[in-house]
This record gives sequence, C-alpha cells and structure tokens, in this order.
Amino acid sequence: MQIEVEIQLNGQTVSGAAEPRTHLADFIREEALATGTHLGCEQGVCGACTIFIDGEPMRSCLTLAAACDNADIRTVEGFADDPLMQAIRESFKQHHGLQCGYCTPGMLVTAYDIIRRLPGADRQIIRREISGNLCRCTGYEGIVNAIEAVLKDPPVASLQEMARSKPRSRSDGLDKIVSSDSSMSPEAGPTTESEATDLPDADSFDTAVNLEKTITVAAAPDAVWQIISNPEAMVSVIPGASLTAPFDNGIAKGLCEVKVGPMKAQFQGTASIVYQTDAKSGTLVGRGRDDFSRSTLEGRLDFVLVPDGVDSILDLNMRYRLNGPLSQFGRAALIEEIANALLRDIARGLEEKLNGTAISEHHSKAPHPANGSRFLVSALVGLLKRVLRRSR
Ligand code: FES
Ligand code: FES
Repeated sequence: MQIEVEIQLNGQTVSGAAEPRTHLADFIREEALATGTHLGCEQGVCGACTIFIDGEPMRSCLTLAAACDNADIRTVEGFADDPLMQAIRESFKQHHGLQCGYCTPGMLVTAYDIIRRLPGADRQIIRREISGNLCRCTGYEGIVNAIEAVLKDPPVASLQEMARSKPRSRSDGLDKIVSSDSSMSPEAGPTTESEATDLPDADSFDTAVNLEKTITVAAAPDAVWQIISNPEAMVSVIPGASLTAPFDNGIAKGLCEVKVGPMKAQFQGTASIVYQTDAKSGTLVGRGRDDFSRSTLEGRLDFVLVPDGVDSILDLNMRYRLNGPLSQFGRAALIEEIANALLRDIARGLEEKLNGTAISEHHSKAPHPANGSRFLVSALVGLLKRVLRRSR
C-alpha cells in the first residue's frame, strides 16, 4: 500500500508516494534528494536525523512520512541564509565543534532550537539540551563552547527574526471532532465547539504509533466498569494523573506528570471520552502539552472490558503521536516497556480500590508523578529479558 504525501520542504512543495512505514528521513532523502539530513541509529537514539517539523525539532527517523502530510519541514539545507544558523555554523567552525561531521546536521538543528528557545541557557542547560544528540568525535566540549558563544553574542538579525516568528503548532488546521461522536453514547453529552477544536480528529491516528495492551484485573467486570466509566475514580488509579475540572459533557480536563531521572514533564490537556456501557467499551481522544519542553502528546485509546473467569481483562488499543523535544525519548521499545510498567500500576490500583485495601504509595497521594525512573528501570529490565530470551 502506498500513501500520497505532500510536504513543504525548505519552502518547496515535495510530493510522492510512501509506504505507511516509510520514515520522514528516507522520504526527504529519496524523494527530494535532500541528503543533508543524516541517519545514524534509525532508532531515535543518536539525534543525527533531527529536523524541524512545523517549527519543532523532531527525530525524522521516528516520524512517519505519512503522518506529515502538509507539514512544514525544515532541514539543515533550509537554513542556508538564516542569520542565526550562519552564526552557529561559524561558531562550530571556530570552536572545533565538528570533526567527521556525521552528527553535525542534527547538532546544528538542535543548537538552533536551544538558542531560539532558551536564550539564557548556561553550559549545564546546553549539555542537558544536547544530550539527545550523540557525537563520537568531539567530546562535546567544542560543541558546548560553540553554542555558548552564540548565546552570549547572538547576531542582531536573528534576534529580530526570532521576535517575528513563532513556531507553528502541529494542531493548526486539525479537523474538529464531529459532534455526532457524542451520539455514540447516552453518557457522553454533546461536545462544545471550542472544546472540540482543541482535540485531534479521532480518525487521524491511522498512521500513528500503535500499542496494543491488556490489563488483567482480579475483579468482576461489573465492578471494574464502575471505576473505568467514572473519570474521577479512574484518574485516582493512574500514577501522576489528576483532573483539573469536573468531567462534563464527555470532556475531561486534567494533567499527568511524568518524571524520568532529572527530567520532569507535566502534560496538561483535554480529552473527549465516549462510553458504550452495554458493550463495556469506549474511546478516548485527547491532546496534552508540556509547556516546559513544548512537546505535545495526542492520542486515541479504544478500550473494552471482557470477563475472564471471575476476573476481567481490559483490552487497550492506543495510538499516539509525541511531538517536540520529548519525542527524542520516544524510542518505541522503551515507550512500550514504560507503558507496561504503568499499566501494571494501574491494574494494581484498580484492585486496591475495589478491595478497599490501603492504597499503595503510588496511589495514596494525588497527584503523585508517574516515576519514569522506576518505569525506566522496569523498562530496561524488560528489554534485557527479551534480548536474553532472543539470544538463547
Ligand atoms: Fe539516530 Fe534518528 S537516526 S535518532
Ligand atoms: Fe563526528 Fe560528531 S563530528 S560524530
């Protein structure tokens, strides 16, 4: 199957056919022959492929071309006459910020983003911000020096340009949720127009990352459904999550905190939830934004609760898009393992809530940030086990 994709690449329209799994880096390199974007690991780890998509730095090896129809893409070639990038390039040259140059296109794009977004950044912040870009040659000192030098003495023209331009949000132009969605359920009232425009199109996730998961809960489906179909109750068993307004007209507003090592993200957002009580199923479509990193997460979750003897199984189909700097940590295998750890906690929280037992440490105080370090450890252990299993 081939999908027609049209993008604006460095101000030029580029169109072509892509397979659903073709990533953007390959599409750019092969359709437009714009080979300035380098591919290293192709797993979201090295950062060599970092480019701007709608004004935000992203891994083009993890972004599907089909998900970028109509997107505004800027690669290293698109900065030829940009005064800020000219200053960064010159500074990299002066401070020996490159040797073989393989990491350099991604480094330059990331440096540009740091200088534009964090004009007061010190060396520690620069190091943290470039930690998603690996260089095997320079030892990073020259790169940090180069970025620091431009931060201290940015070209005047670039400051004027930065004041004028504002990164365009990927949400611009997204379709509204059609209000007929609300007719799927007697429980969900009509979605208001302003709330609906905040949400992504429920049908727009065909090419998004897909995760299928199940949770087994040691309780009967009727009892579990009582919690699942009540957002106020459900949110109390999700680590780090809380509602910021009462659930109203099928719309939930809330936030979710995730902590991974020193990095903390707080996604604040809105979701439309439609329940189908007879089938014990439902659909959630939502979008959240972490203001600090300017990353957005949007997704669709379809769920159905089925009996399993005296227990219940919750089947989940999640499709999501993570955009912005945090997508650098969006390696699929890692996200999957983090999701596994989170779902285990949710299952335990559901059981504890149903049993009326003391809610464990992760659910006792709301909101308690989802501890990504703990998830990360579980994730790495999970990955290790799978690798060892494969190598036997
Ligand atoms: Fe390494 Fe994309 S090629 S992160
Ligand atoms: Fe060679 Fe960075 S300059 S990998």
